[in-house]
Amino acid sequence: MIATIRLGRRPRRARYDRGAAERYWGEERPRLGDELRIVLSAGEPPWVNAAYHTWETTLLERHLRPRRGQCILDVACGLGRIAAPLARAGATVVGVDNALAMVHAAAAKTACVTGSKRRRLPRDTGPAVRSAFVHAFSSSLPFVDASFHAVICLGLFEHIPPWLQAHTLREMLRVARRGGAIYLMLLNNRSLLMQAGYDNRHRRARQLPNGYYCGLPDRDAIVATLRRSGARVTALGSNAHYAILRHALRDRSLGPAETRRAARAFADAAMRDLSEPGQGQFGEIYADHFFYHIVRR
Ligand SMILES: C[S@@+](CC[C@H](N)C(=O)[O-])C[C@H]1O[C@@H](n2cnc3c(N)ncnc32)[C@H](O)[C@@H]1O
Repeated sequence: MIATIRLGRRPRRARYDRGAAERYWGEERPRLGDELRIVLSAGEPPWVNAAYHTWETTLLERHLRPRRGQCILDVACGLGRIAAPLARAGATVVGVDNALAMVHAAAAKTACVTGSKRRRLPRDTGPAVRSAFVHAFSSSLPFVDASFHAVICLGLFEHIPPWLQAHTLREMLRVARRGGAIYLMLLNNRSLLMQAGYDNRHRRARQLPNGYYCGLPDRDAIVATLRRSGARVTALGSNAHYAILRHALRDRSLGPAETRRAARAFADAAMRDLSEPGQGQFGEIYADHFFYHIVRR
């Protein structure tokens, strides 16, 4: 069942150079300096990324409820933005990333938190090592079948072509346990604001000479394919309030007072999106992202 996963009718194999992507994420992107700009939106001010980060991590942790005894895989773990707090909450976390520099950064970030936590644990409470980071590609995950209670994949699918998305889905389903969950964040290709095309001029579904790839994954095709493979798929939330504000203020230069008001407005929008996770047509039309919970059966 899992082996037949395919997105759309006949996905054309867009050229994609894994080495170039690794150089982009491992060398070029870290030059931005700011953690959230490195792994979230490179072109947005800090308060926009902070609001997105709050929305995403709150939704994830609310649903996943990370705890000791849980074994979680973070696919495309980046700098460990997600893995580190999950390990701090007691879960065993394994991260994989195509960029070796990211793997090292995530290990360093998570070692700090697990290291301090571990010292407080009694001797008989589980394995000494509670996190591990591996240099690997999403379409060939180096784990045996059914290894994880949960698999998380945030901010990856827009950066790989459709044929790689299909292989990655198949791999995530393979390594998740029966009854285990996949948490998948997808850009909303149905959004009128996203479709307007002025948002990210590089979002053209082809790899640039510097290795950057960005596209709009076909959300409906991905969900339909997952359902055909037998998985149960539920949208945990979308972020229309945040998205409307982001598109409205994009590239506007703000004075100090306006900046403070904008930062508060973004934080409020994130809270509003969290309090209204089911956004119906409002989400379909305006949200930037949909967060999916996929149960492997
Ligand atoms: C936008 S960042 C997101 C990082 C992290 N998931 C987060 O949300 O903080 C994308 C990450 O995906 C990694 N990546 C890109 N293609 C990959 C692939 N096919 N397999 C594994 N990692 C990949 C990049 O190296 C980078 O660290």
